[in-house]
Amino acid sequence: MDASCVVRILGSAAGGGFPQWNCRCPVCALAWDGDARVVRRTQSSIAVRGREGAWALVNASPDIRQQLLDNPPLQPRRGSRDSPVAAVVLTNADIDHVAGLLGLRERWPLRLFATRPVLMALAANPVFRALDEALVERCEIALGVPFLPVPDVEMELFAVPGKAPLWDEGEEVRTDIEDGRTVGVALRGAGEDDWAHYVPGCAAVNDALRRRLDGTRLLLFDGTLYDDDEMIRLGLGPKTGRRMGHIPVSGRDGSLAALAGSAIGKKVYIHINNSNPLLVAGSPERQKVETAGWIVAEDGMEFPL
Ligand code: MLT
Ligand code: MN
Ligand code: ZN
Repeated sequence: MDASCVVRILGSAAGGGFPQWNCRCPVCALAWDGDARVVRRTQSSIAVRGREGAWALVNASPDIRQQLLDNPPLQPRRGSRDSPVAAVVLTNADIDHVAGLLGLRERWPLRLFATRPVLMALAANPVFRALDEALVERCEIALGVPFLPVPDVEMELFAVPGKAPLWDEGEEVRTDIEDGRTVGVALRGAGEDDWAHYVPGCAAVNDALRRRLDGTRLLLFDGTLYDDDEMIRLGLGPKTGRRMGHIPVSGRDGSLAALAGSAIGKKVYIHINNSNPLLVAGSPERQKVETAGWIVAEDGMEFPL
């Protein structure tokens, strides 16, 4: 077994995946037509492996079965029932992050780590009883308190600005909630000095977040939309990125500008919506972020932790 801890990107697309089943926006059209400038991507999830070989998934995507088929290190190795997947950590209760739990219902012992509001959202949906609590232990995680989801991998959850899950929005929607309904994950090999950070959903980069991310050696960050009004402009939907709880990449308050002055080792855009021109190799938008030192995530990319 390789002695180091790693992060592997299982799904680099936002909810809907790329291409999205019912979409023929300009970027999805390239994928449907087999254009070599784009590659398909599954929905939002990463996996983190400790030195002993156990994996923690961070978010459980609706594409989880495909992701396990595509990633041999996550497959059963011995006996009649086996999986190196020992834990699932959740960053919110959005469908693209929790629906995959239902794909893990075949009576395998797992530990499920999340904040109280996220665990409450799951408990409010009876379908998740399919994950028997006797086997799938719900572990409530307090913000700012480190925990080890698998041996040798340390994580800490921190609140980032966000909103209630789409399916639970209610009448009035605030996108600046910082109560643990949406979190980022700090992660490191136990005993290492520096944290890496995974933030697949984030409505704004405020000073606290900028301070936290400054100096990180690896950042996987919300790259949902390139322009805040991208969905509206393309006739795909009525909402801005911010209204969906996602800071856009571009613009004066976008993530590219907000993080430009920060010392970050590797910067990776992840959770990318199918409408986002960053998905097209060689596009002006892609060139712009690459010139600024960003990597646009693809499924299967791996980074040492
Ligand atoms: C999001 O990231 O905004 C959500 O995945 C939306 C959704 O649940 O479809
Ligand atoms: Mn999402
Ligand atoms: Zn599309």
